[in-house]
This record gives sequence, C-alpha cells and structure tokens, in this order.
Amino acid sequence: MPSSVRDLIERATTAPEAWDQLDRPSYRAEHVLGVTFNALGRARGPVVDVLHGTWLGHPLHPALTDVPIGSWTAALALDAVDLVGGGRRTPGLAAASRTCTGLGLLGAAGAVVTGLADWQHTHEGARRVGVVHGLMSTAATGLQLASWVERRRGRTARGRVLGLAGWAVVSASAALGGALTYRHGIGGDHADRSLAPRTFTDALALADVPEGRPTRADVDGVRVVLLRTGGGEVRAFGEQCPHLDGPLSQGWITREGLVCPWHGSCFSVEDGAVVHGPATAPLARFETRVRAGRVQVRRVPPVPGASPGSVTALEQQREDEQEVPDARH
Ligand code: FES
Repeated sequence: MPSSVRDLIERATTAPEAWDQLDRPSYRAEHVLGVTFNALGRARGPVVDVLHGTWLGHPLHPALTDVPIGSWTAALALDAVDLVGGGRRTPGLAAASRTCTGLGLLGAAGAVVTGLADWQHTHEGARRVGVVHGLMSTAATGLQLASWVERRRGRTARGRVLGLAGWAVVSASAALGGALTYRHGIGGDHADRSLAPRTFTDALALADVPEGRPTRADVDGVRVVLLRTGGGEVRAFGEQCPHLDGPLSQGWITREGLVCPWHGSCFSVEDGAVVHGPATAPLARFETRVRAGRVQVRRVPPVPGASPGSVTALEQQREDEQEVPDARH
C-alpha cells in the first residue's frame, strides 16, 4: 500500500483522539446510559452481562457488527449485478437486495446497543474515537433505513444510491472500530497470560496477606493478587483485570467474588472465572504453597493439562520432579 494512503488512514483513525470538545457531551451521554441501566433494577446485571458478551466469553459487539457490514455489502453486490444485467437477467435481485438491507438494519440495532454498553467504560482517546465511531455508525444506519424505505416504495434507484452512501460511511466507521480494538485494546484481553513464573517463586510473607482483603505481590515482574480465605488458604490470580487492566488488588471481595474497582467486573475466588462483566475473559491463575511462612506462587499454564509430550508439559513435569513434596495451603 502506498505510504500516502497509509498515512491518510493513520491520520484519519488517530485524529479523533485529540478532539477534547467531545468530552462534555460524551460524559453527559455516559451519565444518561448509567441512569438508563440503573433503572433496570435487579435486571441490570444480567442485561449488561448479555450486552458485553460475558455469557459468551467474547465481546458481543464486534460479532454483531459483522451482520450489518456483511448484509449491506451483499446488498451492494446484488445491486451491482442487477445493474450490469440491466435488471432483466436475474429476476428477484432487487427484492434480495432490499431483504439484505433490512437484515443489516436488524443487526445494526444490536450492534448499537452492545457498542454503547462497551463504550461507556472507555477513557480519553478511546472514548473520543468511540464517539465518532458511534455517530458515523448511526449515520450509516440512517442512510440504510432511508434506502430500505425507498426500495419498499419502489424507488429502487434512489434506494441504491442511499445504500451505497450508507455502505461507504459504515466502512469508514469500521476502520475506527478496528482502531478501538487494535490500537486502544477495547474488547481485548488485558490479563498477563505469560508463562512466568514457571516454578514456585517467593511472593510475600504469609503474615502480610490479611484475610478477606486482596493483596498485591510482584513476583519476578509479574503482578499477582493474593487472597487469604477464612480457612487460611491462600489463592493467587493475575492482578490485571482482563477488561481494561484495572488493579484488582485495589478491589474488594463480596459473596460473589473479587470485584474490580474500575468498572465492577466480578471474578470467582475459586477459579478466576468471570461472574459479572464487563470483563469477558477469566483471570490468570497461579498455584500457591507456603514454605517457612512465605507464600510462593507459580503459574497455572494457560492451557491446563497441556498435551503429553509437548514442550510445556515436559518442562512442567521436569520442574515438578525437582520440587520438594508440596504442602499447599
Ligand atoms: S478494568 Fe474494567 S472492570 Fe476491571
């Protein structure tokens, strides 16, 4: 790709990061969203979990955006084929194109709602890019709605022009959506999934891990949160919240689990699984043991039960054999 085109795309996708005039209206919009979700009462938690994709283990918004983009692209292709054929070679193309436009509108409705739910937790540059992405997607949806109406009224040519315009706007908006994911990490997994430490490594004195309060330890450069239960057991998880890297050691423990202080994701203290979003990925996990009054941790491999014979399994086996018999708490 010519560097001038690359520079143009780079400039277009990064420029909104500096548009601080978007902050005031965006914080108002976030407030309205918060009030709306809170008005759901007890249904709020399950509803936002559905919107974030917590139940799926994957953000829902990017999956739903494929529906309008794919459907409207299909409508565009059908229009092109129909135009080339002079509207006579293949009957039904205009109707098929109209159906695709309508299907895309249904997908867009879901994408807008899930996108708003994800966007309310973004900050600074990502928040501003998200505002522009949302406005462009809304404009594209409006154009496609007008296109569908015109097609229904039999004004096919006008509907096609509106559909083409909507497709161009949604494509530009999708580029901003890509920047949100790949540049700003929105929807990504922010947990540290490295394999370190692979052997039991000193974390903290057991006396420095109070009961019922998350405690941070830095173990060979890896951030770990230690939890001491009422039974004296110590559990360890990655300290970085998978949602947006919130510091879990500054969170709190409820009946349901460990709560992130930034946006309220909740994780099981048994195995680090997500109890409530907005996070969709579980915590990184560590094994623990206590030696001479010191808590030691080692990483549970990202893929527990690695295939026998694999490098991970063989290395883990060798390290296990070198370990003194375990007396875990
Ligand atoms: S960083 Fe958002 S819930 Fe933890």
